[in-house]
Order: sequence, then structure tokens, then C-alpha cells
Amino acid sequence: MEIIIQPTPEAGSIIAARIIAKLVRTKPDCVLGLATGSTPLATYRELARIHREGVLDFSKVTTFNLDEYVGLPPGHSQSYHAFMDEHFFRHVNVPRSRIHIPDGMARDIPAECARYEAAIVAAGGIDLQLLGIGTDGHIGFNEPSSSLASRTRIKTLTERTRADNARFFGGDLDQVPFHCITMGVGSIMAAREVLMLAFGANKADAVAAAVEGPIAAMNPASVLQMHAVAKCIVDEPAAGKLTRRDYYRWVFEHKPGWQKIGG
Ligand code: F6R
Repeated sequence: MEIIIQPTPEAGSIIAARIIAKLVRTKPDCVLGLATGSTPLATYRELARIHREGVLDFSKVTTFNLDEYVGLPPGHSQSYHAFMDEHFFRHVNVPRSRIHIPDGMARDIPAECARYEAAIVAAGGIDLQLLGIGTDGHIGFNEPSSSLASRTRIKTLTERTRADNARFFGGDLDQVPFHCITMGVGSIMAAREVLMLAFGANKADAVAAAVEGPIAAMNPASVLQMHAVAKCIVDEPAAGKLTRRDYYRWVFEHKPGWQKIGG
């Protein structure tokens, strides 16, 4: 895994946006896997800014989001449909027909999960999957003990994740759903490239376990150690518990010129 330590979330998000923008320019019909939560917000803002400047066209891009709460209709303010629209899709030109988010209102949830997996395959697979990480090491909503081979399915959120996410529901834990549909760890691992972001000291333990700990279902993000093209962008507080952080900085500073992440 390539670890990129940046002084601030903003600096890390600019690098993330550059990586995504470069992919969209070199492969205009690429398939992006997208995440919600607070972590990717600045990345989405930066991508929208580049798009507004007229130098980034999403008109051929296809997107698949990681997850959606079960029981929240797309119009619910805290649904991930609404989140993505507010923070990304309304600011760029991804065609509606190319946007995919699991249907949390599906009556037949296993069928919806199978349909979602098939749609990813039909689109040619995900070129780049953007990820956040939960304080318990989850990616998507694959909570600790998730099968590292899992595919899109229903999951039950841990109490910790529900508490972490209560801030989006006005702090009211009772409003946070118990279930979600999430791409599996295996679905995420099938992406050709993975870009995980983590900002803030509350992510430091999860990041250290994911990057330097053993590969274990108890920290699902640790499986990214097995991915051939995985980058992890962290700010200083999130990097705080990485024992080899000086080494990661050294590697990033000494990349050959052709590998540097330009503007
Ligand atoms: C979001 C997702 C989750 C979040 C994680 C971190 O689609 O799948 O894994 O990335 O819960 O959330 P934030 O960014 O709010 O700290």
C-alpha cells in the first residue's frame, strides 16, 4: 500500500482529486466507485471546482456508490442518494443514467444486491474505488468480522458506527438506521485501483491497524494490503499511530519525477 501523509485534510483531498481527475482525463468513460461520509467532501468540492473551470468532463463517467441505508427513500435528507446529489452530482455532469446507488427501499434486498453486483460487472468493473474508513476499520459498511470475500449484501451497523453517524441525524441515535446495503469487501477488492482517505485523530487506530497490522476481518480495511494498486491518503493526526510514518514520507518525497502526482 502506498501511504501519502499530508499536513491537512485539504491538502490530502487535493491529491485525491488530482488522482481521480487524471483517471477521468485519460479514460473519459471510466467507472468510479464513490463513498459518502464527511471524509470525501473536500475531494468532491475540488473535483467540482475543476469541472466548473471547464477542464474536467464527467459526461461519459459511470459511478457506483458503496452503500445506502435500508429503509431511507432517496428523498430522505440523510439517504446517500440525497448526500451524493447535494455534495457531488449536482455540481458535475455525470449523466443520471450512469449514476448507481443501492436501493435501500428494495422489497427484495438479496435481489437488489445481486442486481447491483451484476451492474458493476456489466459496466466493465470499477476502475477506481474511493473509500473512507470507519473508526472500527470498516470500509463501505463492512463492519469487523465481515467476510473478506463478501459481495454486495445487507449488513447490520455496529453500535459504534451508528453512534459515529448520529451527527448526520441531528445527533439523534434513534434516527440512525440499523441496516444498510453495502458493496462487499470482495467487491471493493475487485476494483482496479483503490484510494482510501482518512482524516483526523479519531481514525489513527483504525489506520494503523489497516496499514501496519495483520490482515484480519476484524479490521476489514487491512485487506487492502493485498490489493495491487492501493493508496491511502492521511493527514498528520490520522497518521499519528503509524510506526513507519517517516519512511512513508521519505518514499513520497523521493518518487521518480514521472510518478509524481501533478496538478
Ligand atoms: C461511506 C462509507 C463509510 C465511511 C466511513 C467513514 O459510503 O462507506 O465506510 O467512509 O464510515 O465515514 P466518515 O467519512 O464520515 O468518517
